[in-house]
Amino acid sequence: MTILVTGGAGYIGSHTIIELIVAGHNVVVVDNLCNSSKISLERVERITSTQIPFFQADIRDKKALSDILDMYSIDACIHFAGLKAVGESTAYPYEYYDNNIIGTLNLISVLRKHNIKNIIFSSSATVYGEPATIPITEECPKGKCTNPYGWTKWMIEQMLMDLHTADPTFNIVILRYFNPIGAHQSGLIGENPNGVPNNLMPYITQVAVGKREYLHIFGNNYDTPDGTGVRDYIHVVDLARGHVKALEAINRNCGVAIYNLGTGKGYSVLEIVKAFESVNGMKIPYVIDPRRPGDIATCYSDPQKAQRELGWKADNGIEEMCRDSWNWQRRNPNGYEQ
Ligand code: NAD
Ligand code: UD1
Repeated sequence: MTILVTGGAGYIGSHTIIELIVAGHNVVVVDNLCNSSKISLERVERITSTQIPFFQADIRDKKALSDILDMYSIDACIHFAGLKAVGESTAYPYEYYDNNIIGTLNLISVLRKHNIKNIIFSSSATVYGEPATIPITEECPKGKCTNPYGWTKWMIEQMLMDLHTADPTFNIVILRYFNPIGAHQSGLIGENPNGVPNNLMPYITQVAVGKREYLHIFGNNYDTPDGTGVRDYIHVVDLARGHVKALEAINRNCGVAIYNLGTGKGYSVLEIVKAFESVNGMKIPYVIDPRRPGDIATCYSDPQKAQRELGWKADNGIEEMCRDSWNWQRRNPNGYEQ
């Protein structure tokens, strides 16, 4: 198949492109590079020995998108493009709704005009809010999000489902990611946050590489075994492979399908720190800070639906995730900046 990948220069997109190419698909990438570098795609080209058609364009630009789609015969779109920083979304809600919601509406409009009706969307476990049940199955009701970023995911999911109701020839796969970490084993591509990392693993690797003095652990008085927050960390390469499996579902005319992509195992912040230290043979100094507003105690998936219906499960464990995160950071202390 030929796949339009929006946001393909980003962290998850770049890893997914590799797995798509390995599986024999062609890709066309659109990204405005607002949170990424073209170097990631050059590295992907090196890893796959494949030239990747890339267009620097904003998904809110209908004409640019339309011109690109006129040039290719696209079978499906994997839609990663979006802004994703939780704290920033609280400070700039308009920008988040504009980019994520208006961007997605534009994209759908152009896809529809080109009769492309197969869409895979990057959603997040954040749509469950404070989860009603743990482990979280896809039947768990969507909850109240704590920030505009989360609401954009929540609303886009709804928009896509309504689209399918009105026109059942759309095939929509909504993938709810848990906590992606890790990097491609080559160490050539990985997560490249701007400024101070918001997420746990990039913060740990920046402490490890000497860019930050110590990790701030946000709260040790949660109702969890060691008091720190528990999450379902998933290796980004496993996550990427989940998208290839989702394409197979689309080929079977799945209608609307929602899948959790997680491992089903929860690790606390302290367990992650210990695993990172033991796998990589180094110390990560930390301090305990107050809880971060909006954080929940525990969040991990029941990933059985994806296993049952897609034949997908995560293969990499916490050791591989810690090893590959560090391998990327140590080889690229400044990310894609030379
Ligand atoms: P990322 O920021 O690395 O990648 C997103 C890409 O989209 C970037 O390359 C950015 O330049 C591009 N982009 C943003 N707005 C655009 C626009 N208007 N037009 C064109 N390109 C645009 O983020 P990621 O971690 O790779 O996440 C990919 C998707 O998965 C996002 O939608 C994100 O919300 C979602 N997601 C990520 C996580 C996570 O922990 N990383 C968890 C759940 C869901
Ligand atoms: C966060 C977002 C979520 C988003 C996901 C992926 C919030 C409330 N949620 O999830 O919407 O989909 O990122 O981008 O921001 N931690 C520390 N110190 C740090 C960083 C994190 O102790 O410097 C702790 C957190 O309190 C949490 C765990 O580590 O318990 C994981 O945090 P993080 O990596 O930010 O992911 P989430 O909060 O699960």
